Amino acid sequence: MRILGIETSCDETAAAVVEGKMNDKKVNILSNVVVSSLTLHSKTGGIIPEVAAREQVKYIIPVIKKAIENCKLKIENLDAIAVTVGPGLIGSILVGVETAKTLAYVWNKPIIPVNHLIGHIYANFIQDKISSKLSLRAKRSNPINNEIASSFKTPRNDKVAFPALSLIVSGGHTDLVLLKDHGKIKWLGGTRDDAAGEAFDKIGRLLGLPYPGGPSIEKTAQNGNPKTFNFPRPMIDSCDLDFSFSGLKTSVFRKIQTMKQLNNETIADLSASVQQAIIDVLVAKTLKAAQKYKVKSILLGGGVAANQKLRNELKLNAKRYTLNANFFAPEKKLCTDNAAMIAVAASFNYKPVPWKKLTANPELYFE
Ligand code: KG4
Ligand code: ZN
Repeated sequence: MRILGIETSCDETAAAVVEGKMNDKKVNILSNVVVSSLTLHSKTGGIIPEVAAREQVKYIIPVIKKAIENCKLKIENLDAIAVTVGPGLIGSILVGVETAKTLAYVWNKPIIPVNHLIGHIYANFIQDKISSKLSLRAKRSNPINNEIASSFKTPRNDKVAFPALSLIVSGGHTDLVLLKDHGKIKWLGGTRDDAAGEAFDKIGRLLGLPYPGGPSIEKTAQNGNPKTFNFPRPMIDSCDLDFSFSGLKTSVFRKIQTMKQLNNETIADLSASVQQAIIDVLVAKTLKAAQKYKVKSILLGGGVAANQKLRNELKLNAKRYTLNANFFAPEKKLCTDNAAMIAVAASFNYKPVPWKKLTANPELYFE
């Protein structure tokens, strides 16, 4: 079974081909192509949905073509198409969904709708080795040069034991979900306002750092002291498994207002202190859920999962405080949006629908 994955939920245009047996634990990635319009958005300090969608219209066909060419397959060798149907930006999702529907009709292939957030979880089922050969962030001017083609034979997914807990931390979402098995997912809690990535991005902007704020804050924080500013850890002790990050943003804003000027040293200390506050909350709530549900695995996913300090602290504390729970995080470049995770998610949850019934749903969440 070979599945072509398509992902366009935010500012990336991505296509990938994976190969595996249905319901089997072995899924190989044959090709993985991602084009990002990030450079355009850094100029405006954030994503303008219309701009992102227009870029995706330009790149979707070349990116799909390249993904198929790179694994030296013909269209008749593909068995199905998987596509992100939500959540995300409506204009962006529509580009992927309408392209996938058209291809499914013309090529006469089954089509599998995939929840983007579940895709992030399944990035954990991609073997590490692929990463070294990947170069996921493509330059807008010459996207196809940055294509990735790789294959590997020993996926790590067979090491993930259920029940598993997943912390999904992206630009739009912060969720804790329980996986009893493939396809058996229960939502446990999520953010009540800003997502963790959104907090990084908005605070990065307050600090005058380049967009996106997450990687910028992580970099700047390396020269700072996380104990300099004692920012609030919102909802860290609440009984539920929910999060809230908008108060932290306000707190940073107020602190900055009291300062005459922001020099590099202060920005570094602010970055380190903010990063620590976000990580402390994410780690505390994840451990709480892991203990409550006695999980055997903890799976980190989403763009913020690329944060090294978060990875380190979750790993360390998972070992220290949870009973035999193994910690998994996707290779850093596979934490941010890509189509391999969408195709892999589809291969583990193979539920094709008639192409006519496939619709984009920007509000899609967990059932
Ligand atoms: O999953 P993703 O690529 O897109 C969405 O589905 O939203 O996540 C993007 C988010 C952005 O908010 C970005 O600032 C954050 O992930 N991010 C990071 C890091 N790399 C990306 N946040 C913290 N540390 C990082 N190293
Ligand atoms: Zn994402």
